[in-house]
Amino acid sequence: MAERGGFEPPTGYSPVHAFQACDLDRSSISPTNKKYSSIALKTRFPMASTTSEPALYLAATRAAQLRAEIERHNTAYYVFDAPEIPDAEYDKLYSELVAIETQYPALITPDSPTQRVSGAVAEGFKPVIHAVPMLSLNNGFTDQEVNAFDQRGAQILNKTVLEYACELKFDGLAVSMRYIDGVLIQAATRGDGARGEEVTANIRTIRSIPLRLRCKHIPRLIDVRGEVVILKRDFERLNQRQRAAGQREFANPRNAAAGSVRQLDSNVTAQRPLSFFAYGIGALEGFNMPLTHHALLDWYLELGIPVCAQRAVVQGVEGLLNFFQSIKAQRDTLPYEIDGVVYKLNRLEDQARLGFVARAPRFALAHKFPAQEALTTLIAIDVNVGRTGAATPVARLEPVFVGGATVAHATLHNEDEIRRKDIQIGDTVTVRRAGDVIPEVVNVLITRRPADARRFEMPTHCPVCGSEIKRLPGEAVARCTGELVCAAQRKQALWHFAHRRALDIDGLGEKVIEQLVERHLVHTPADLFTLDLATLAALKRFADKSAQNLLDAINRAKRTTLARFIYALGIRHVGESTAAHLARHFGALDTLMRATHDELLSVDEVGPVIAASIRQFFAQPRHIEVIKQLRAAGVDWPEHARVLKDIGPLAGKRVVLTGTLSTLTREQAKEKLKAAGAKVSVSVSKKTACVIAGADAGKKRAQAKMLGLLVLDEEGLYKLLNGQLKLP
Ligand code: IVH
Repeated sequence: MAERGGFEPPTGYSPVHAFQACDLDRSSISPTNKKYSSIALKTRFPMASTTSEPALYLAATRAAQLRAEIERHNTAYYVFDAPEIPDAEYDKLYSELVAIETQYPALITPDSPTQRVSGAVAEGFKPVIHAVPMLSLNNGFTDQEVNAFDQRGAQILNKTVLEYACELKFDGLAVSMRYIDGVLIQAATRGDGARGEEVTANIRTIRSIPLRLRCKHIPRLIDVRGEVVILKRDFERLNQRQRAAGQREFANPRNAAAGSVRQLDSNVTAQRPLSFFAYGIGALEGFNMPLTHHALLDWYLELGIPVCAQRAVVQGVEGLLNFFQSIKAQRDTLPYEIDGVVYKLNRLEDQARLGFVARAPRFALAHKFPAQEALTTLIAIDVNVGRTGAATPVARLEPVFVGGATVAHATLHNEDEIRRKDIQIGDTVTVRRAGDVIPEVVNVLITRRPADARRFEMPTHCPVCGSEIKRLPGEAVARCTGELVCAAQRKQALWHFAHRRALDIDGLGEKVIEQLVERHLVHTPADLFTLDLATLAALKRFADKSAQNLLDAINRAKRTTLARFIYALGIRHVGESTAAHLARHFGALDTLMRATHDELLSVDEVGPVIAASIRQFFAQPRHIEVIKQLRAAGVDWPEHARVLKDIGPLAGKRVVLTGTLSTLTREQAKEKLKAAGAKVSVSVSKKTACVIAGADAGKKRAQAKMLGLLVLDEEGLYKLLNGQLKLP
């Protein structure tokens, strides 16, 4: 059967054309229009030779009826796995619709099942800003970690037993699909969580994804989130097909799924057997949010959106671990690759109360299966020099297939680890790979050690720039002292600077950076802004057009944000989230550069190590020089004065939140308090200026009373925020 199994359009059909407005009153094209449907049902649609009006009406009615029927069968087949008609019957319906639309192109609607393949090849992916960020999940591997996750939730929510929705952790590509008034209008990849790539044409080719939602009552706007995957069975067939066509086979279903969705030509995507399972929601308008995660997924099924069958609602940590064991036992017989299970607090209200840390929610945990392991030979140990000069020993391995991919390199972390595990060159070693994590060498089979095995010595000089490699007392990591003299460090620093989450210079990839550094065209990030078209066009494998595109991207990158700029500087230990806190706290780069150790410590996420690293960074004249040059080149961002922290109504006061507030989530209340200058802490102490106690506040309210501290309710909170009430 062409459409459901083979992913090839029926012969004789050429994908037609954009939707053309048609003069017909749309209401008369509904499948329930009795006047025409009875005729059309009895006879297969008669091919009219002219476009006379009655014929057009008949065609329109029949087409609408066929569309509804085909989509209903699609849902029965893909979503509920319960086909109602044989494949041949389905093919007949589909061919009939193609015939009508070929004869009357004006009748084609964008949600017609024939329009899943657009035929056009895109030039590039457009960025899509996610209305609600797409987050990642924290991972746990052991029962203890699951226990700790449950305990933390129970403590914050002040409940003894929590209810969880359990589901599978798919290994594919996360996408977000926007339906407006029930029609699929946009689909995007997760990207960096805040911004993804538009892949609507490709997602439309996935037949289990409805182009129009099924239910009568639908939201005005909904962002449905889930994972695009390839079933094990389909993956085998896909690789057989690749082999037969003399093309490269895919390493694993995840790579094949991700590669297929990120295709510029949706005709290629249409040939790939993709499936989809929903597991979350972004924006929702014009509809009440269900109360629980489980109810959300039930609702998806009603809307015709596929969700996976292996899901359950359980109580407490025991329920979680039972679910894990049961899925683990079924893993090999499941139709898809999974790398674990996911636990989410079932009540969405509880989820909101737990909130997020950095880029992952506190209300969910991915409980991963143990990593997969394999034996292989360690051929050599190379030394890799990273952005901060860290010289990391890397094992060069006899390539081995493990955990769904071929592994030829694995990290050895540092010299001490090599000694601790007694790893020698020539050894037979166990290699472990878990999900996306860099593979590692776990241990050595001493009994198989060859007579000529050699010990590893960390080189005294950098293999890239020849500068001395030093290991400071108390540090596990050895570093190349070449800093900006070292091409390896320069390349990494530039790569980091241009990264999507930093200054976001599209087109400045590894290969280009390599050439720029090796030809001595770029030494520091500031040099990027002095490049001209002729220099870029002279690079290897660089057409004029890409040179111009890169130049445009470099120019665009000049307008940035303070948070991105701080992150782009590559200060050790300052990740994206810390950079955002620093930007919010100081408001201006100069203020951050002048900040004392103690001032830095008062910023969220900043402890003594990070504070010292920031101070060290800004103490180096060459860093100040590069920043000056960047600013002179026009790199700019909006700044705000540091008003709130110092002069807000709650400047410097320590406030503790406990219990449930009725009008604000915990996170919202925290943000408001911080905006007014308060420091929000989790534990009550003598230094606490006041405790805000919502409903069912327990221990912390009692502690506050014991210490004689001020305890306020929600109304008091608002008074504090608008300055009606002052703290001592
Ligand atoms: S929920 C707010 N549920 O895992 C949490 N993610 O590490 C958002 N994934 O990018 C994610 N199965 O690609 C969620 N049942 C599941 C999942 C799942 C797979 C992926 C997803 C996400 C990554 C997070």
